[in-house]
Amino acid sequence: MKDIVGIILAAGEGTRMKSAHPKVLHKVGGKPMLEYMLELLRRLEINRCIVVVGHKAEKVKEILKKSSAGKVKTVRQPKLLGSADAVWQAKDSFSNFKGSVLVVYGDTPLISEQSLKKLVRFHKMNQVSCTILTAILKNPTGFGRVLRGEDNRIVRIVEEQDADTYEKAIGEINVGAYCFRAKELFSVLEQIKPDNVKKEYYLTDAIGALSKKRAKIGSVYVGAQEEAFGINSRHDLSRASTVINKRNIERLASGGVTVMDPATTFIYGDIEAGRDTIIYPHTVIEGRVKIGKGCQIGPFARLRSGTVLEDDVQLGNFVEIVRSRVGSGSKIKHHSYIGDTTIGKAVNVGCGTITANYDGKNKNPIFIGDGAFIGVGTILIAPVKIGKKAITGAGSVVTKNKNVPAGATVAGVPARILKKRAR
Ligand code: UD1
Ligand code: CA
Repeated sequence: MKDIVGIILAAGEGTRMKSAHPKVLHKVGGKPMLEYMLELLRRLEINRCIVVVGHKAEKVKEILKKSSAGKVKTVRQPKLLGSADAVWQAKDSFSNFKGSVLVVYGDTPLISEQSLKKLVRFHKMNQVSCTILTAILKNPTGFGRVLRGEDNRIVRIVEEQDADTYEKAIGEINVGAYCFRAKELFSVLEQIKPDNVKKEYYLTDAIGALSKKRAKIGSVYVGAQEEAFGINSRHDLSRASTVINKRNIERLASGGVTVMDPATTFIYGDIEAGRDTIIYPHTVIEGRVKIGKGCQIGPFARLRSGTVLEDDVQLGNFVEIVRSRVGSGSKIKHHSYIGDTTIGKAVNVGCGTITANYDGKNKNPIFIGDGAFIGVGTILIAPVKIGKKAITGAGSVVTKNKNVPAGATVAGVPARILKKRAR
């Protein structure tokens, strides 16, 4: 979308988190909360986007560089004077821009793509100066309340600290996503004064100022109440992670995956899973993980980022896998750690097998060929290759670079070849 640019506010300190780290970098559902907004704007094809940084700006910039959402520009808010002042920092980049600006906060990771799309669509279709995203909550405590006048028109937003008893009773709240006409936004920001309890320049006062000028203000509702949820404390962090987990589980279930016990299953990250896969209780899946069709996972399994399971893989209890690929039909049923390993098809990995992938400095790879049989309690010291259909005896320690030829049997500590011929 060329006629719309984005501003993400991420300068705030987040005092209520009681943390040495900037608030927007705290993880929700396995990734920094700021990532959610970056990804949303990317999905809306808003390619020009500015992140306003301030508190611990260098740390935030570092994470932005690594972000999978691509390149973004940052501007620094020198003093944290409030959300209006934060938006003002993007003025030089956008004030001559003729289109609209979508302003969002870095601490509202639950807003859905559909709601933001609805907001942008409404703003484009109707001749309004600003459109805001609102929600009606049973408990609106802590949020800015939306005040409406005659004809239901939005008059202003009042923050919790500045609200009187009547205003506090209003259930409609400001979620914290706005579409403004760029020119009108920057002209109205100039008039905002910090005359409120917190002595901050409030972005929400831009709504009141526009309304006073008889400018039209539109609004759309979020799809679900939970989207409104802003992260201000550690309690909020865990509640939001629960929502993300629930969404991931529902998405997998809709695609034909059985999650036996959603209450004890944690799925955080960008997970794909094929039909007829069953995930047993107490399983944790995090990061980027791809699971094929017909797999059985858990109970008590942990799949970390970079795991790829082909079809019909069986993983049992206390199996941890990271940065590894497991070929179709392979089984790792009990008590194993598999890291930086490529496992072929129809491999049996015995109980208690450990890959020693880290030598204290580097992580090294391990390869296990198709049809191999890894005996119980085998330790594989990387880098090493186990050939196709090779066998390791129970308790063997296969030392680094002592590759096992295809079809050979090895055993002992260190493992030595017992039989060379193929099975
Ligand atoms: C804000 C809204 C409130 C809304 C709520 C939704 C204002 C004044 N109020 O309140 O109406 O219901 O979000 O969650 O905007 N920030 C900066 N620089 C600053 C101050 C804040 O970048 O100087 C950023 C913060 O990093 C944060 C966002 O602006 O991402 C909102 O600030 P916060 O202090 O969390 O506002 P709330 O009190 O939650
Ligand atoms: Ca907030």
